[in-house]
Amino acid sequence: MSKTEDLLRAREESVPRGPFHVTPFFAAEAKGAVIKDVEGREFIDFAGGIGVMNVGHCAEGVVEAIKDQAERFTHTCFHVVMYEPYVELARKMNQITPGRFSKKTMFVNSGAEAVENAVKVARYATGRSALIAFEDAFHGRTLLAMTLTSKVKPYKYGFGPYAPEIYRIPYGYCYRCAFGLEYPSCEIHCADYLKEVFYTHISAENVAAVMTEPVLGEGGFVVPPEGWHRKIKQICEANGILYIDDEVQAGFGRTGKMFAIEHFGVEPDIILTAKSLAGGLPLAGVTGKAEIMDAPHVGGLGGTYGGNPLACRAALAVIETFERENLLDRAEAIGRKVMDRFRKMQEEHEIIGDVRGVGAMVAMELVKDRATKEPAKDETGLLVKKCYEKGLITISAGTYGNVMRILMPLVITDSQLEKGLAILDESLGEIQSH
Ligand SMILES: Cc1ncc(COP(=O)(O)O)c(C=O)c1O
Repeated sequence: MSKTEDLLRAREESVPRGPFHVTPFFAAEAKGAVIKDVEGREFIDFAGGIGVMNVGHCAEGVVEAIKDQAERFTHTCFHVVMYEPYVELARKMNQITPGRFSKKTMFVNSGAEAVENAVKVARYATGRSALIAFEDAFHGRTLLAMTLTSKVKPYKYGFGPYAPEIYRIPYGYCYRCAFGLEYPSCEIHCADYLKEVFYTHISAENVAAVMTEPVLGEGGFVVPPEGWHRKIKQICEANGILYIDDEVQAGFGRTGKMFAIEHFGVEPDIILTAKSLAGGLPLAGVTGKAEIMDAPHVGGLGGTYGGNPLACRAALAVIETFERENLLDRAEAIGRKVMDRFRKMQEEHEIIGDVRGVGAMVAMELVKDRATKEPAKDETGLLVKKCYEKGLITISAGTYGNVMRILMPLVITDSQLEKGLAILDESLGEIQSH
């Protein structure tokens, strides 16, 4: 029995089926954009552990910072004995996030926890309880974050009842417009629809915040039309509603800017970061206008591990790596190449209904028929399988599970990128003829 078969059996015996796995092999080591498994096989990584490894696996500066910190201390709990890396990182986050106003940042352990804390802060600061989220959104798996999430299976099914006071409207998803309209003649009706909700669902003066992703992540890398975010923000401002920008997946350089919302000319009241923030260590940030972040009373926010020193040091090293290695430019270059290749693939493969993205956040949506746009979910699953059989790790996305998204480390070499794209192209050919 191979080591992999051995481990697979142990996994089945010891770990519940709920925590899923996309590929059937086990990592032994990883560097840059390549993961080696326990059998010594090498895989090009187009998933980055779901968008966590923008600076690459085992980035030198990050590993050094973690090692150095591990030898000093690994935990004191910021609420018991404070430490410099937390404060230093907060200061850095306040500087690099968009918004020409005074900001403050607190740290937690995961994207979902950032979402939860942003909601607590927004409710406290406004004295209002309702939240508006979007169709096709993903905000995490804890009770409140799961409620804010849109996709039912697998994220919500069987886990109700959900948290109260959450309302939902369609996102600016032009390929599948909920109103059957077309941009630009629609004049971004989907954003104006928010005003309708104040009559049909919840009074504006009861709404604490609108929670939105700058570009949908799990929802299938949907890029809203130019002007969508600005309209939503204007409606929020006119009604005293906070605008929370969930950058957990789209942020930290993925789109060619440090924060995806910078593409859309909006300054959020609160910005959420996680995933690539700390290069693989569990860390998430809630950054917001100082007076909003300071609203909750002393002791009202926090957690034992939030802003762990190893993770804060790793995050500081990630930010340095971005600057030193010009990773924002690299994200743009990767994005151009991938977009170009995806468009060519679309000409050849009938199954590709839509190609979209910003910077290196690029995806293709697979459909059974370009006219009906019937989602090609099974084919997408098969594509992921064909890819890893040929040495490429990919992950799908989309409410209908029919989107192939690309989240490779931004340090991927040109030849690794070429090889990965060639595997994807070849695999698309195979699922078409399937
Ligand atoms: C936009 C967005 N928000 C929140 C989350 C939840 O993050 P975590 O899995 O770290 O809890 C995710 C995870 O994919 C995400 O993409």
